[in-house]
Amino acid sequence: MTYSILLIGATGAIGSRIATNLFKHRDQFKRVAFLTATADGGPEKEARYKAVPLPRLVGSLEDPSSYHGGVKHFYPAEYGMDLSRPEPQGESFFVHKLNVRKHLEDIVSRDSSKGFTYIMVGMWSNWMLSYNIFGLSGDKKSATFLGAPDTIITTTHADDVASVVALSLLPSHLKSLSDRRRIRLAGSTLTVSEYFSVLSKVLGHDIKVEYTSKEASYAIEQEHKEKGNTLMYILSPLLRALGFGGSVLEGVDNNSYPELKVKSFEEVAKSTFA
Ligand SMILES: NC(=O)c1ccc[n+]([C@@H]2O[C@H](COP(=O)([O-])OP(=O)(O)OC[C@H]3O[C@@H](n4cnc5c(N)ncnc54)[C@H](OP(=O)(O)O)[C@@H]3O)[C@@H](O)[C@H]2O)c1
Repeated sequence: MTYSILLIGATGAIGSRIATNLFKHRDQFKRVAFLTATADGGPEKEARYKAVPLPRLVGSLEDPSSYHGGVKHFYPAEYGMDLSRPEPQGESFFVHKLNVRKHLEDIVSRDSSKGFTYIMVGMWSNWMLSYNIFGLSGDKKSATFLGAPDTIITTTHADDVASVVALSLLPSHLKSLSDRRRIRLAGSTLTVSEYFSVLSKVLGHDIKVEYTSKEASYAIEQEHKEKGNTLMYILSPLLRALGFGGSVLEGVDNNSYPELKVKSFEEVAKSTFA
């Protein structure tokens, strides 16, 4: 079976990595291209589009006829928690992702030839460290973390997320476009206090951690809104779900992808703080 792949969002944090991986495996697909809404996005965007190693297609997502026609298998841009868990339900950060799942499942329930793949990876370890989600202080000797010390969290490096997306698209893994797959990939699955132990080991000193309760997080979220701290306001529901169990993956599929040697959290922390 050979098929074509259209990548939407090829310049994004994960999209650019997926583009690189699809390019690596391009010989195994009929055609691989990326979509942009416009033929001229201005100098800055055009420079980013030029760096994508795939041919480009122009077409708007607003115009269903430009992409809906022949699409048989969908990969929604989840790349995070297992959305079937209770923690993301009712949290504003996940509303669109949950709606997309609902829409996809509605589509495939009406057409047995269509399928989807959900890629679930927990939190990206590199993202958590670069956005200081562990709440480390300037000298990294203390931290304030929204969550509980015994919460289990799965983390995976974004490079491994992109690799599994491309590998899962190879004909050797995607047996039929009508498959409905839930792929779980994990770099590390540890408790929050174990993550801090790893950080402590890598940094070479103790870290005094203060844990923020779920109850307190609502007031903090409101404070972010009032102070106009938009990013933290948007991320608060995500961080609450993370800190209280939403990011654990059970029954992972790492063994189905022996081609992929995932990075552990310790390896990522070492390369971040080296
Ligand atoms: N689990 C984690 O820790 C974690 C961390 C980060 C992200 N994520 C998830 O990964 C997914 C992607 O995030 P990201 O950080 O890679 O995003 P990003 O860097 O913000 O990139 C978004 C991409 O989507 C494209 N895009 C946006 N609106 C579009 C539209 N209307 N039509 C076509 N393309 C559009 C953008 O294209 P242009 O460049 O053309 O504007 C851009 O390439 C999200 O679901 C996010 O929640 C998960």
